[in-house]
Amino acid sequence: MLKISILLVIFSFVCSSVTATVSYDDKAIIINGQRRILFSGSIHYPRSTPEMWPDLIQKAKDGGLDVIQTYVFWNGHEPSPGKFNFEGRYDLVRFLKVVQQAGLYVHLRIGPYVCAEWNFGGFPVWLKYVPGIDFRTDNEPFKAAMQNFTAKIVDMMKSENMFEPQGGPIIMSQIENEYGSIERQIGAPGRAYTNWFAHMAVSLDTNVPWIMCKQDDAPDPIINTCNDFYCSKHSPNKPYKPKMWTELWTSWFTEFGGAVPYRPVEDLAFAVARFIQANGSFVNYYMYHGGTNFGRESGLFVTTSYDYDAPLDEYGLIREPKWGHLRLLHKAIKRCEPALVSSYPTVWSLGKNSEVHEYRSNSGACAAFLANYDTTSSANVTYSNMQYDLPPWSISILPDCKNEIFNTAKAIHGAHMKMIPVGGAFPWQSSIEEVPTANDSDAVAMVGLYEQINVTRDSTDYLWYLTNVNIASDEEFLKTGKDPVITIASAGHALQVFINGQPSGVAYGRLKKTSLTFTGDVKLTAGTNTISLLSSCAGLPNVDLHYERWNAGVLGPITLSGLNEGTRDLTKQTWSYKVGLKGETLNLHTIDRSSSVSWLEGSSVAQKQPLSWYKATFDNPQEPGPYALDMSGMGKGQIWVNGESIGRHWPGYIARDHNCGACNYVGSYNQNKCLTGCGEPSQKWYHIPQSWLKPTGNQLTIFEEWGGDPSKISLVRRALRRN
Ligand SMILES: *[C@@H]1O[C@H](CO)[C@@H](O)[C@H](O)[C@H]1NC(C)=O
Ligand SMILES: *[C@@H]1O[C@H](CO)[C@@H](O)[C@H](O)[C@H]1NC(C)=O
Ligand SMILES: *[C@@H]1O[C@H](CO)[C@@H](O)[C@H](O)[C@H]1NC(C)=O
Ligand SMILES: *[C@@H]1O[C@H](CO)[C@@H](O)[C@H](O)[C@H]1NC(C)=O
Ligand SMILES: *[C@@H]1O[C@H](CO)[C@@H](O)[C@H](O)[C@H]1NC(C)=O
Repeated sequence: MLKISILLVIFSFVCSSVTATVSYDDKAIIINGQRRILFSGSIHYPRSTPEMWPDLIQKAKDGGLDVIQTYVFWNGHEPSPGKFNFEGRYDLVRFLKVVQQAGLYVHLRIGPYVCAEWNFGGFPVWLKYVPGIDFRTDNEPFKAAMQNFTAKIVDMMKSENMFEPQGGPIIMSQIENEYGSIERQIGAPGRAYTNWFAHMAVSLDTNVPWIMCKQDDAPDPIINTCNDFYCSKHSPNKPYKPKMWTELWTSWFTEFGGAVPYRPVEDLAFAVARFIQANGSFVNYYMYHGGTNFGRESGLFVTTSYDYDAPLDEYGLIREPKWGHLRLLHKAIKRCEPALVSSYPTVWSLGKNSEVHEYRSNSGACAAFLANYDTTSSANVTYSNMQYDLPPWSISILPDCKNEIFNTAKAIHGAHMKMIPVGGAFPWQSSIEEVPTANDSDAVAMVGLYEQINVTRDSTDYLWYLTNVNIASDEEFLKTGKDPVITIASAGHALQVFINGQPSGVAYGRLKKTSLTFTGDVKLTAGTNTISLLSSCAGLPNVDLHYERWNAGVLGPITLSGLNEGTRDLTKQTWSYKVGLKGETLNLHTIDRSSSVSWLEGSSVAQKQPLSWYKATFDNPQEPGPYALDMSGMGKGQIWVNGESIGRHWPGYIARDHNCGACNYVGSYNQNKCLTGCGEPSQKWYHIPQSWLKPTGNQLTIFEEWGGDPSKISLVRRALRRN
């Protein structure tokens, strides 16, 4: 008996030591028995093309990353209930295999709520219309759907052997996302939901750790992690969990109407070193490559570019000095790894606002971090009888407790990218989208004003609200010429007004206030007048308590004042509805169907005309890419190349910010500290992925809502500026 049990013990020991495992303790994530200091970067697979993935991942690896982190985008994968899409940019398994082939690990954030400045936070819009549903709380229909999707992804990963114990790259998963503040707001049902999804996730038996970010009460064995600009003060909720940073914001997203944020690398590196010196063992850059919100995938008022001032720019090119300085930082910290994973730091002051964190292990490894937190002065400090000069707001790294091999503030600035025009003028053709009226046979009449998403189910950005107004021939204004005034209240996000087919103005909201009111004089005549309102969405909300309940569209009131009767309320009369544009229904953006309308060309091409469709054919330029369209001169709309949507354009939305002055890396960073592009379009350049272009005969299609000058549009390429 005794012999057998000893044999069993030895056998099971041998087995478990050859079987790959991922676990954790208070120091770090443990992979196959080794505690690891891990650098990770967010790259979201639908924000680039599969053709870009290998290069992005290789550049991430060369930049010193160990892990690629991505969300899983439910609305991209299940566009209608039970109909799944795992193709093209949504080929999740292919993406993970590219990461695996590069020898990197994966942190898979299943969510399925992802926020991510992504349309509807990643939830499919149909989910909102499941009877009795209430998102992200203790609600049975929601929990059933969430469990279904989470289990589907886990099963898919298992069947592809994607988890690390199966020989795959996934070392960690994430359930939910930044739920802590929502839980606090809703109380007991929130707490019950947390316990439910924690249990649900763990019961899926992935054999790798689960994390919850920004949720201090993460139930065991789930690790609570930090998302912020700085996280050195974060501490896990149990002494046996490691200190992890799942989102270190490399800057911030751009919203239409806002300037473009950036974050100096000296501050970013300082934030990393400050976290690692205080027991931190996992850092993920959000974003490492931000990429592009193609199609209609961006969240509410988020620009098509999701560049994020990341180490790899929107186009997949290395951004210096960010990429290179972080690469050196990663190398320096990796040289400290033996000491970091096997000891706790001893901390003492080196003078005013400066201190040392010294890691000294039993085996003799020693690593020191010398920090100067002062925001104005550099510090000359003495450590181990040696002098070190520390610039303000910086940390020096000494992997042997002697030689400084890196200081966070000593980055080398130099090269910059610029946009260079390529190719000639586009040979534009144009076709005008007719303004519909309530009398059109395909308009659906209903009494009153309806919420936009309820009507469109987000199948398009556009919904027409159409009605007729009768004006008696004895109206005083017909004689005086003093036009009546129409006032239209809309929940958002943008509105274009046509009276008797004539453009009568636009109005639009912004991220912090999506609702808008249009007020304007209107030219009315005796008899029947048509009112046609084009309401458009600029992405659906992705964050905040019950954001799924936010309305869009023209909800009124709508009034007409300056009549004999005083003010007439149009809100409750009969309105007719048309979902989407005629050009959308005809698929004008595809090569096959673009000839289903007639086009004008040459000097007849539409100029400054609202509701214009433009198309042009062009050859792939000789010069190397990556390419973008400079959309200067245009207002608002959408762009397609060879039938693929490259996203919404809105250069007519000018950044309202005024604080684009010089920005010093020193001192606490936030998303309003360092900005560029005040008073300019929030986004002027729109990325065209190279793999969407053919050598010749590419078709570019644009729908322009406001009216623009297409002769100002040009193709540009992104390249290094030679100084
Ligand atoms: C869960 O998935 C199954 C199989 O796809 C489907 O039949 C069922 O309706 C789904 N349930 C929910 C609540 O989504
Ligand atoms: C590091 O962790 C140890 C053990 O939990 C703790 O005693 C120490 O205060 C921590 N040091 C820092 C700088 O956070
Ligand atoms: C620190 O020492 C360096 C030379 O080692 C000197 O150039 C610098 O001025 C000193 N800085 C301060 C704040 O004393
Ligand atoms: C629309 O239809 C109404 C009757 O429903 C008619 O009185 C009106 O003249 C029509 N208007 C137009 C512009 O065709
Ligand atoms: C959605 O539209 C339907 C009619 O199509 C209506 O009955 C329902 O009240 C609407 N719901 C909301 C929330 O607006």
